[in-house]
Amino acid sequence: MNRRRRIYEGKAKVLYEGPEPGTLIQHFKDDATAFNNEKHALLEGKGVLNNRISEIIFTRLNEIGVPTHFLRRLNMREQLIREVEIIPLEVVVRNVAAGSLSKRLGLEEGMQLPRSIIEFYYKKDELGDPMVSEEHITAFGWAAPQEIDEMMQLALRINDFLVGLFLGIGIRLVDFKVEFGRVWENDQMRIILADEISPDSCRLWDSKTSDKMDKDRFRQDMGGLIEAYQEVARRLGVLNENRPAATGSGPVLVSSNSSDGKSE
Ligand code: TMP
Ligand code: ASP
Repeated sequence: MNRRRRIYEGKAKVLYEGPEPGTLIQHFKDDATAFNNEKHALLEGKGVLNNRISEIIFTRLNEIGVPTHFLRRLNMREQLIREVEIIPLEVVVRNVAAGSLSKRLGLEEGMQLPRSIIEFYYKKDELGDPMVSEEHITAFGWAAPQEIDEMMQLALRINDFLVGLFLGIGIRLVDFKVEFGRVWENDQMRIILADEISPDSCRLWDSKTSDKMDKDRFRQDMGGLIEAYQEVARRLGVLNENRPAATGSGPVLVSSNSSDGKSE
């Protein structure tokens, strides 16, 4: 039975009170939504895959000095994170034209952009997360000019790192969305990467075939989402390819943590 205090429930994740002050537990659900909840489904195994994919990406980012909220994975669906004050913005970085950018500006999907482009969206479900400019962000006090600069610098470092990481495993990073939060350290405020980075929040195309390996498979009713996420996990080295025949059809994950077998 789950007696932990639930702090927040989103569309794909739940946040629970953590074991120590300043920490939270981030729980990945199997829910998939699109078009601001217009479309909803349960895709068995998605939460487990996103937990592991996000874990490996955040661990690597921590290692290269990009500050993140990730502390450690707790079990198949949960990770221990630092509590942050979420900045109410979705920061999207684009390398290739696709999705809403293609639609808005009439750009052919797949066109390499002249340079990486950063966009901000105001996190407000009731409004469908509208795109906003730096003017809106500062005028309405969602973030200070210095914080915007910091988020943009971090977003570009994350992009450079991820483009290389995915290129090395035969995947083209088309675009992705990140969220940032504020933490206080000795009276100093710092911005760190929060939320998740997974095929739910990225566009990932196979380098050779251009097959979609991300949530567009769900948005566009293509099917095969779990298989695609499994393939991303496998290429990142977190999915065990030699799974024993007896384990059934669910994803089998490489265990690097003794608490791995614990249920959520
Ligand atoms: P877009 O082309 O629909 O604006 O999406 C840009 C990127 O942001 C894409 O990788 C998917 C991701 N994204 C989210 O993670 N959450 C969202 O709510 C939306 C609309 C996009
Ligand atoms: N995450 C958003 C939703 O749930 C939109 C999307 O990812 O397409 O509706």
